[in-house]
Amino acid sequence: MSGDVTISGPRPLRGTLRVPGDKGISHRALVSAALASGRSTLHRLADGDDVQRTRGALERLGVRVKESQPSTVTVQGGGADALREPDTVIDCGNSGTTMRMLSGLLAGRPFLAVLTGDASLLTRPMGRVVRPLRALGARVEGRADGELAPLVIRGGNLTGRRCELDVVSAQVKTAVVLAALQADGTTEVVEPAPSRDHTERMLIALGAPVTRVDSRTVRVERGAPEPFELDVPGDPSSAAIFAVAACITPGSAVVIDDLCLNPLRLGFVDVLRRMGARIETEPTGERLGEPVGRLTAEASPLSATSIVPDEGMIDEIPVLAVAAAFADGVTEIRDIAELRVKESDRVNTIQQELSQMGVGVETQRDALSIRGGQPRPGLFKSHGDHRIALAAAVAANAMDGESTVRGWQSVAVSYPRFADDLASLAGETGS
Ligand code: S3P
Repeated sequence: MSGDVTISGPRPLRGTLRVPGDKGISHRALVSAALASGRSTLHRLADGDDVQRTRGALERLGVRVKESQPSTVTVQGGGADALREPDTVIDCGNSGTTMRMLSGLLAGRPFLAVLTGDASLLTRPMGRVVRPLRALGARVEGRADGELAPLVIRGGNLTGRRCELDVVSAQVKTAVVLAALQADGTTEVVEPAPSRDHTERMLIALGAPVTRVDSRTVRVERGAPEPFELDVPGDPSSAAIFAVAACITPGSAVVIDDLCLNPLRLGFVDVLRRMGARIETEPTGERLGEPVGRLTAEASPLSATSIVPDEGMIDEIPVLAVAAAFADGVTEIRDIAELRVKESDRVNTIQQELSQMGVGVETQRDALSIRGGQPRPGLFKSHGDHRIALAAAVAANAMDGESTVRGWQSVAVSYPRFADDLASLAGETGS
């Protein structure tokens, strides 16, 4: 994939699309399949590099994963006891989910494993996952007393207990749940506020000893899921990219089919609706505990709103910031300190790229204020962050003139074929 992509707008987007399978559900499906004793089949697994990292890591631990068709894999799980000490360091690339989830899985295993990642991942906070795993009895070390990767894990002999997490993070919650499935006794994971709940939904649907006590608390006993077959529903974070693209590009009307409609992922729909967008969701069924359905979005004049991530969104903030740049008025986005420790410091990178479009942006440590107007085309940078690259591409598609997104290769992390899907909705052949 080339380092630069050039987009000439405005290009109205029309048609129906299936976005790639949900990234978070794909990671969890691979790990659940490894923990199950028997063969599981996963269709439409997310095809980005992040999920490949989880697959590669499991293979290093001795799990057999075979690709039977493009995006369909079979996993021969043998349960946690079948995992083997890896013969070398496990490289999680750019994937925070891989590193944090694996830490939890490995916390229960009586062998040594070392987890590393790319330059961005080596700066991201790991103490949040290291502390609860140590509390369950695992030996976990890392740079800066476990604050930073590489992480060195020697697990085993875990004892269940009540773990009160200090951050709202589904990755950390998932790590503790995976460790707790291998611990003696009962573990309770308590979050400061509810985070996305794909792990609980999947494990409960697969018969693992996991129960929800309340919206912030999960109880886990020692045990494992059953093998399964899953067609991974589409990724709401990818759908959000096209929803915003449709809203801000005159003449657009887009349908996203077969999408995960988990309410904890759909905060962006409410925000866009509040901004005046014509956007609807329609449930059509359920898959392994996840509601699935269709989303439609049409070009709409937008007006400013205020946004807090508590509403069930975090990865969608960069693209919602683009919606705000096209809206009438000043949009305030608050309580987003967490954005500073994502794949890039997104408070900063959103500010830089919107400013490059001529949009007025003010930042505070945990807030952004965006004065909507008429963004103009130009040269934008990904900062090595897939969500910044995708947000810039959506803005470029709506603006009058030619733009370039530099560092485009970062989209390989979550959505390698995005440029082709965008071109097909624009009625062009893929690039
Ligand atoms: C994810 C949880 C979120 C999200 C990330 C994927 C997951 O991170 O930003 O892209 O799959 O659990 P946090 O758990 O750190 O909030």
